[in-house]
Amino acid sequence: MVKKSGSAPLNFTQSHALFRRAAAVIPGGIYGHTAPAATVPGAVPYFAAEGFGCRYRDVDGNTFIDLMGGYGPIVLGYHHPEVEAAADAARARGAAFNHPTALLVELAEALTARIDFADWAVFGKNGADLTNWAIMVAREVTGRPKILKIAGAYHGTQAWCTPGHGGLLPEDRAHIHEFAFNDVAGLEALFARHRGAVAGLILTPFHHPAYDDSVLPTPEFVAAANRLCREHGALLILDDVRCGFRLSTDGSHTVYGYTPDLAVYCKALANGHPLSACVGRAEHQAAASRVFLTGSYWNDPAPMAAALATLTIIARDNIPQKLAATGQRLVDGWLALGKKHGIPLIASGPPAMPYVRVADDPSLLRTQHLCAAAVAEGVFIHPHHNGFISAAMTAADVDETLERLDRALAKLAAGGQVAQTSSLPGSPSDAGAKQTGSLRYLRKPPVPLPCA
Ligand SMILES: Cc1ncc(COP(=O)(O)O)c(C=O)c1O
Repeated sequence: MVKKSGSAPLNFTQSHALFRRAAAVIPGGIYGHTAPAATVPGAVPYFAAEGFGCRYRDVDGNTFIDLMGGYGPIVLGYHHPEVEAAADAARARGAAFNHPTALLVELAEALTARIDFADWAVFGKNGADLTNWAIMVAREVTGRPKILKIAGAYHGTQAWCTPGHGGLLPEDRAHIHEFAFNDVAGLEALFARHRGAVAGLILTPFHHPAYDDSVLPTPEFVAAANRLCREHGALLILDDVRCGFRLSTDGSHTVYGYTPDLAVYCKALANGHPLSACVGRAEHQAAASRVFLTGSYWNDPAPMAAALATLTIIARDNIPQKLAATGQRLVDGWLALGKKHGIPLIASGPPAMPYVRVADDPSLLRTQHLCAAAVAEGVFIHPHHNGFISAAMTAADVDETLERLDRALAKLAAGGQVAQTSSLPGSPSDAGAKQTGSLRYLRKPPVPLPCA
């Protein structure tokens, strides 16, 4: 299983070999947030092989305690038996039929029963499918063009919100306007400046930017968001893609007090099976039906069966409470270890989705070293992205994680650093990566998002 202290350094030979092959046939080799250069090149696995509970194994046979949960989808643990049995039973009857199955209706009924403001639901595959559709619904309802969003918030890869820089036109964001999270005056000013033109305000429940600390909403901000949308006749769209069903069993708006008109869910919805959902109010149902919505695989029954099972378990076993307790225990222990080794750490965000970094580390370079050291000890964390606790993590797993982090911090305190910008595959100085255009920033992106 996982290597013990004092064992040989992890071997990533297969990961690197696969990356070389990938770079020849795939733009960037590995693209998106899992690209090596966005993590700690050379010091982390690049390719996974299998997962079980709160652990996964990479293609080299290294096993890790997973604090990233597949970047969010894995809420109950990899390969949860009840979820997989439900998905397998649906899959055994066929996939992607000419029609939806009864599961579509059952799942819409389950979500509308569970989420207090929801009268209807639709389903896609990815979060971005439906954050994009939701802003179109807001435009259809109001007949207005403008969308207000938090600066630095991620809502997907569509042109109006991608954090990337390639392939964009200035007009893609002509009607997108940004404000700083929790800045009530800034939000009021945007609504005033675009009076009569704002279709919707899209918010994440709390601010969870990459490359920065998470920020919880102030009660004043939540109240202002609710009030301003009501006063200006704009729709409040809650992008609950990352947080939904991790912080509460019935949508994260109930945790912070938002009154959304539309909410989008994805990651934890089906414990790793591809599915997203958007729910809304009866008064917007007719307008929603006029915004075209479909996809080749969107009626596939297996993920819907997985979602029904996942939602049942999340409520039955009060998973959000468990995640919060497990996360708190982990974060408390982790911060204490930082103190013990003289490496002050900062934790932000709800404990179920913690982001822990080294303090006084604006470039996040030391945080990258911490992640590399943790990975070397068999704990997978990310230097620039919040983590995700899984319900498969037991108290014993937390203890084991802390023992491993103890060793990682001890090494860091002793000056042990992991080479990461040499010519390792996927690093910015890697010739192969450059040829395939996969050169990416290692630290904070230097260029602000182009927005109106
Ligand atoms: C808050 C938020 N919204 C939208 C998305 C986009 O979801 P997807 O990658 O499934 O399209 C993400 C993905 O990380 C997200 O975290």
